[in-house]
Amino acid sequence: MSLRHFTDLSALSESDLRAILDDAAARKQRLKAGERSKPLAGKVLAMIFEKPSTRTRVSFDVGMRQLGGEAIMLTGTEMQLGRSETIADTAKVLSRYVDAIMIRTTEHQRLLELTEHATVPVINALTDDTHPCQIMADVLTFEEHRGPIAGKTFTWTGDGNNVLHSLMEASARLRFKVNVAVPEGSEPMQKYVDWTNANGGKVSLFRSAEEAVAGADCIVTDAWVSMGQEHRARGNNVFLPYQVNAELMAKAKPEALFMHCLPAHRGEEVTDEVIDGPQSVVFDEAENRLHAQKAVLAWCLGA
Ligand code: CP
Ligand code: NVA
Repeated sequence: MSLRHFTDLSALSESDLRAILDDAAARKQRLKAGERSKPLAGKVLAMIFEKPSTRTRVSFDVGMRQLGGEAIMLTGTEMQLGRSETIADTAKVLSRYVDAIMIRTTEHQRLLELTEHATVPVINALTDDTHPCQIMADVLTFEEHRGPIAGKTFTWTGDGNNVLHSLMEASARLRFKVNVAVPEGSEPMQKYVDWTNANGGKVSLFRSAEEAVAGADCIVTDAWVSMGQEHRARGNNVFLPYQVNAELMAKAKPEALFMHCLPAHRGEEVTDEVIDGPQSVVFDEAENRLHAQKAVLAWCLGA
């Protein structure tokens, strides 16, 4: 069997995504019922972080432990990677030691190079361009609260970033709509919009957040400046019309959910009232990182 990498949602079929999501939901249920099976006993995951993390780091580590395996935390600056050892050599060396490699990195190309040279599965834990693990958790969360995602409308407001790119890829595979409201100059990368629209998705771009949220089943936002993207910072005034506040939430469907991958910048992209309010499911999303990633690990490692 060829290696099962979890690089981008566009690289997976609808049935792969659905199998992982179903497995995540089942594993969550079994965990809550007290099951402690160890399908990854003896397996080791190397986790490379070239950017900070709370949720991804802890949920992958705990996920490996719950599945009976172990995780090794590696920070880019403490590895020879930080002293310019190549990604290709790093991939070949780590593949001799561990059963899977997870990486959070900067340029997407670094993930692709690692994948090309590794002889074990590689998992994308965020790049400048995408964040597929987050979106698996988000779809799981939406469906737990609202049932099947197909045919629903998500509205993204703020900066057109890595999380949005993965949301759009998921929307093509799972057939939901994505409305995107961003200020000029903060649009998502065109290649992700084009791929989504060419593969069964429907991305619509708006300047007005109010117009974009009309009819939305879920409103999603994220930091106005992503990690390592400080050079793209536009100043808060440019983004303020895209803030998710009670007034904006009121323009979506009454049952609309609010999502944010976290960490949140309270008072910037979202107000306390919304993120702590009844429509917010942000801590369910954070919890579901654990369950979704366990299913991704199991899929990659054939457990
Ligand atoms: N949402 C997310 O990926 O969080 P961390 O940066 O804390 O891992
Ligand atoms: N878009 C954010 C997500 C953080 C989890 C970033 O890349 O910094």
